[in-house]
Amino acid sequence: MSSLFTIESKVHDESRQGEAYSPIIESQANFKKLFYVESYGCAMNFADSEVVASILQSNGYGATKNCEEADLILLNTCSIREKAEATVRKRLTEFRKLKKLNPGILVGVLGCMAERLKEKFLQEESLVDLVVGPDAYRTLPNLIEEAETGQKAVNVLLNRDETYADISPIRLNSNGVNAFVSIMRGCNNMCSFCVVPFTRGRERSRDANSIIEECKNLFTDGFKEVTLLGQNVDSYHWEPFNNDSKEEAVTFAALLEKVALISPLLRVRFSTSHPKDITDEVLHTIARHENICNYIHLPVQSGSSRILQLMNRTYSREWYIAKVNRIREIIPGCGLSTDMITGFCTETDEDHELSMSLMEYCKYDLAYMYFYSERPGTLAARRFKDDVTEDIKKKRLQEMVDLHRIHSLQSMQRDIGKTCKVLVEGVSKKSADELQGRSDHNKVVVFPKSNFEKGDYVMVKINSCTAGTLIGTAVSE
Ligand code: SAM
Ligand code: SF4
Ligand code: F3S
Repeated sequence: MSSLFTIESKVHDESRQGEAYSPIIESQANFKKLFYVESYGCAMNFADSEVVASILQSNGYGATKNCEEADLILLNTCSIREKAEATVRKRLTEFRKLKKLNPGILVGVLGCMAERLKEKFLQEESLVDLVVGPDAYRTLPNLIEEAETGQKAVNVLLNRDETYADISPIRLNSNGVNAFVSIMRGCNNMCSFCVVPFTRGRERSRDANSIIEECKNLFTDGFKEVTLLGQNVDSYHWEPFNNDSKEEAVTFAALLEKVALISPLLRVRFSTSHPKDITDEVLHTIARHENICNYIHLPVQSGSSRILQLMNRTYSREWYIAKVNRIREIIPGCGLSTDMITGFCTETDEDHELSMSLMEYCKYDLAYMYFYSERPGTLAARRFKDDVTEDIKKKRLQEMVDLHRIHSLQSMQRDIGKTCKVLVEGVSKKSADELQGRSDHNKVVVFPKSNFEKGDYVMVKINSCTAGTLIGTAVSE
């Protein structure tokens, strides 16, 4: 069974296969019907599938890993790039075959592609029965009933208040060690290339008390790591509803601290930070708490201030570099990762060189790199011409990937000889005699099993590495 952390580590890689979910919960015999869900896109979509599973289970649907035995097949989709949507369309053609064999099956499309295409989806994909946007999952049971009568069911209303705060997600495909916890939804930034504000709506923060409660319950259930999720976690801001309440407004730094204080044995991660919003207060909070991982995902998108302005990222190259310097000053040795786009509208060779030199400066431990994919309706699609040829976009991307490969290998090699604290996530994929876990800096570490178990923290001395894995041996503290 793949771990949730594996999902997190590929958080932006929508091209991978969807994950088939099989919650280890009540016996299927307790359910009147079975559902099967595949998720694509970012961690927030994966977390949403866990909310959907909870809503469905309360309405008599049990999860199955086998789509052929399901009464309801759901695809939780992503629209971030054209390729992400193409992957879903291809998968739908496969389900179409299944539906032809068994016309009683319902096929539903959830998530960002449902929101972007709305009713159009039903015209384009005749065998889809349900189209449900990210803020409409509570209505799924009614929509399913409607679809069962042979009607097409659609709800793509965005809702400024919906955070699903009261729903306990059902941990799908869980390794029992790492869990995602959504702390907010939507995005108020208007990066010109990005479809998310259109598919996820306005930003809203979830009730801090419900987040703490969920994290506490996870810890009680044996989970050892939570990843707090939002498109822009640093703008998290929650005000208690009751004016008479003595509770104060909760910022992201305060929330991080509250989660970290649940137990020193609960590791805390978060994603994603926006360079314009991450504050010194957040950085000091990370530095103060040993259990908040020293690792920040800080997407830059481009190293050229001119392109950053066209992207509407609201910071310049210099501002970003100053932020990286500040991170390294307050949290020495902090792990750093990023997202980069090549070939955005009007990008010249000089702009590309600026992106390459920024990567050289930051030497990211991890980078998710993409070539620009125009998304209908976005500011960039409306205002600018997608004028860099696909060949050039891909050539620049390859150069960037090659450069990053050097940096990530150097980052791995720097850890040889060091001892790091590893949270064990399970048995290594390559050998049953070895365990696999993650370091505080989010690197995969493999070491001989001995008597250690999943969920243990183990001090491991790193002896060697490959491009993606540190290899070591357990040492006593
Ligand atoms: N909220 C995060 C941020 O501000 O960076 C991440 C948002 S998005 C889900 C993940 C990444 O996809 C972005 O950081 C960006 O690099 C990439 N992306 C978004 N739109 C894109 C597009 N139209 N073409 C190529 N890559 C895109
Ligand atoms: Fe998209 Fe920008 Fe919001 Fe990230 S911050 S989700 S890139 S609009
Ligand atoms: Fe994709 Fe929607 Fe996430 S577009 S990246 S699934 S917010």
